[in-house]
Amino acid sequence: MAYNLLKGKKGIIFGALDPKSIAWKVAVKAHEEGAFFTLSNTPTAKRFGQIDELARITNSEVILADATNLDDLNNVFTKSMEILGGKVDFVLHSIGMSLNVRKKKVYNDLDYNYLMKTLDISAISFHKLLQVAYKLDAINNWGSVLALSYVASQRTHYGYNDMADAKALLESIARSFGYIYGRERKIRVNTVSQSPTLTTAGAGVKGVEGLLDFTNRMSPLGNADADECANYCIVMFSDLTKKVTMQNLFHDGGFSSMGMSLRAMKTYNKGLDIPIDID
Ligand SMILES: NC(=O)c1ccc[n+]([C@@H]2O[C@H](COP(=O)([O-])OP(=O)(O)OC[C@H]3O[C@@H](n4cnc5c(N)ncnc54)[C@H](O)[C@@H]3O)[C@@H](O)[C@H]2O)c1
Repeated sequence: MAYNLLKGKKGIIFGALDPKSIAWKVAVKAHEEGAFFTLSNTPTAKRFGQIDELARITNSEVILADATNLDDLNNVFTKSMEILGGKVDFVLHSIGMSLNVRKKKVYNDLDYNYLMKTLDISAISFHKLLQVAYKLDAINNWGSVLALSYVASQRTHYGYNDMADAKALLESIARSFGYIYGRERKIRVNTVSQSPTLTTAGAGVKGVEGLLDFTNRMSPLGNADADECANYCIVMFSDLTKKVTMQNLFHDGGFSSMGMSLRAMKTYNKGLDIPIDID
């Protein structure tokens, strides 16, 4: 059901690869809610993914860019303003990649060249995007910028590897740049910390199936899926959240506030040599 929450708003959505991508779901819902936007991803993603299909469904144009490249980002914002006929109201950064994870390098045996790439692609690209948009004055007053994060930025999660460090930096950039954007332009900058989700990036996390089951059982409301994440992003892009900024917003069914659930305690106890009674 659509509510016209983004009627007439213009935006840029980075990171839609295929129909499983969180950014794909955001694009579909933003279109349903009345927004006009451009899509951006890398040339490799265009070759191996389905972004042209998304552009067709949402009546939008694709502008190819490596989000670590300042010239590419300049081009994305400049072209988007030409295509959309003015400044944008919302931007989604839905970008993440770790070569250490891909090449199965564990956290105590990181390749530092890969680590630099992880940080550049998954976090510093957010700063670059914000800086390019700031210099071009490409975002309207009361606009909204979002990036996607994960709870491993703040709590250790085995297997999330150097992406945890990237997400910690990403969340910090949202606060630091959020202050400047808020003060100077009345624009909000936030991160949404999403439940584990079975996307191409999500599937790369070590032991992801077990993790999904664990977080689903541990979260009072269960895991949030990609569609639900997209709904939350739409609300964050709408005028209903104008005073929310510099926040890391958990969208995880309550997982991040849990310590131990009754069910998890019972399961744990069953595995002990001498079980303890729990009521
Ligand atoms: N899937 C999860 O479990 C989960 C949970 C929390 C947060 N997130 C975050 O959500 C975001 C989107 O991931 P997703 O799960 O939808 O997976 P996805 O694989 O569909 O999206 C990741 C995107 O990053 C893009 N990308 C990689 N390198 C890039 C570069 N140099 N320049 C521009 N784009 C580049 C890819 O092409 C891809 O479209 C990521 O930031 C991810 O860390 C995912």
